[in-house]
Amino acid sequence: MSHKFLDETTVPANPAAALRYTSSMSHRPTHLENTMPHPQLQMILQQMPKAELHIHIEGSLEPELIFELAQRNGVALAYDSVETLRQAYAFDNLQSFLDIYYAGASVLLHEQDFYDMTAAYLRRAAQDNVCHAEIFFDPQTHTARGVPLRAVVDGIYRACQEGPISASLIMCFLRHLSEDDALATLEDALPLRDKIIGVGLDSSELGHPPEKFARVFERCRQLGLRLVAHAGEEGPPAYIESALDLLNVERIDHGVRCLEDPLLVQRLAREQIALTVCPLSNIKLRVFDTMAQHNMLELLDAGLVVTVNSDDPAYFGGYMNANLLAVFDALPLGLSHAQRLARNSFTAAFLDPETKRGYLAQVDAYFAGLAL
Ligand code: HPA
Ligand code: ZN
Repeated sequence: MSHKFLDETTVPANPAAALRYTSSMSHRPTHLENTMPHPQLQMILQQMPKAELHIHIEGSLEPELIFELAQRNGVALAYDSVETLRQAYAFDNLQSFLDIYYAGASVLLHEQDFYDMTAAYLRRAAQDNVCHAEIFFDPQTHTARGVPLRAVVDGIYRACQEGPISASLIMCFLRHLSEDDALATLEDALPLRDKIIGVGLDSSELGHPPEKFARVFERCRQLGLRLVAHAGEEGPPAYIESALDLLNVERIDHGVRCLEDPLLVQRLAREQIALTVCPLSNIKLRVFDTMAQHNMLELLDAGLVVTVNSDDPAYFGGYMNANLLAVFDALPLGLSHAQRLARNSFTAAFLDPETKRGYLAQVDAYFAGLAL
C-alpha cells in the first residue's frame, strides 16, 4: 500500500483545484476506464456522498479518548501512554483484536462517555462526506461491567440526534456468549426499542455459527427490527448461508469468504444481499495478506452489492475514506466502481424509500457534475 496515496495532505482541499490536475502531475498509471489522473479519483472518492453501514462505535474510540475517559472515570489501564497503547495494536487475527478492543471499551461508564465517543465519530465521518451511518454497539460488553443499558443507548442516541449527519443504531449480540444472554439483553432493550433500528451479531466468529442465535433473531424479526450478522469474515461460507436461512438477515457483514462457494455467490447476486466489506480491517486481521490480494474486485465483478466501511477505524488505521483510498490504490478500480460503491451504500441502507431515492439522486448528480 502506498502511503503517499493515504496521505490526505497530497490531495487538494478544493474540488475546483483538484479538477485542474493534469495527467502530467500523476505519478502512477491509472486503471481501467479511468483515464483521469489519480489525484482526481482520490478527490472523487473523498467527496462523493456515501453511507457507512459497518462501524462498531466502540471501535471508533481513539487512544487519546480512551486515556481521557480512563482519567475522568478513574479506570486503570494496562498501558502507561497513548503511544504504548497504540503500539499494542498489532493483531494476528480477529480474537487478538477483540481482546484489546474489549479492554479499550472498559473506560466507558456513563451516558456522557457514550455520547462523547459517538459525537467524535459522527464529526469524523462527516469530514469523509458520510451522510448517513448505521452504527453498531455491543450492549453486553458494558452491561457485564454493571453499566446500565439505558446509559449506553441514551448516550449513543443523543449524539446521533444532534448530527451533523443522519445515524441509526444497530444493537449487536456477542456471539461468544449464550443465546440466553442475548435474549435477556433483548428483553432489557424493549423499553428502548424505538431508539434501535435493528440487531446484528458480532465478536468471535469461528465456533459460534449463526444458528446458535436463531430464536433471538426470530423474536427480533417479530418486533420489526432489521436484521444483519457478521458472517464469512473468518468463518466459512456455510455461516453466510445459515445467517440468511436461519436468522433471515437482510445484509451480511464482511461476507468476503463467499467466493469459496460459487452457488452462494450466485444466490447473493440474485437476491441482491449487500455485503458490508471492511478493507483495512481485513488486512489488519489477516483475512488477506495484502490489499492487492483483497477480493473486492471479484465481489464487484460477480454482481454483488458490495459496500466499503471502516469496521473499527481507531484500531485498523482509518475511517471511511482511508478504506476507499487504500482499496482503490491497491486494485484496478476506477470511476464507475466509485459510483457503484456510493450507490450501493445507500441502496443497502435501512432508510425509507423516499430518503433513499434522495441520496441516490445526490450521488448521481455528484458524478454527473464532474468536469472530467
Ligand atoms: N468482527 C467481529 N466482531 C467485531 C468486529 C469484527 O470485525 N469488530 C468489532 N467486533
Ligand atoms: Zn465488524
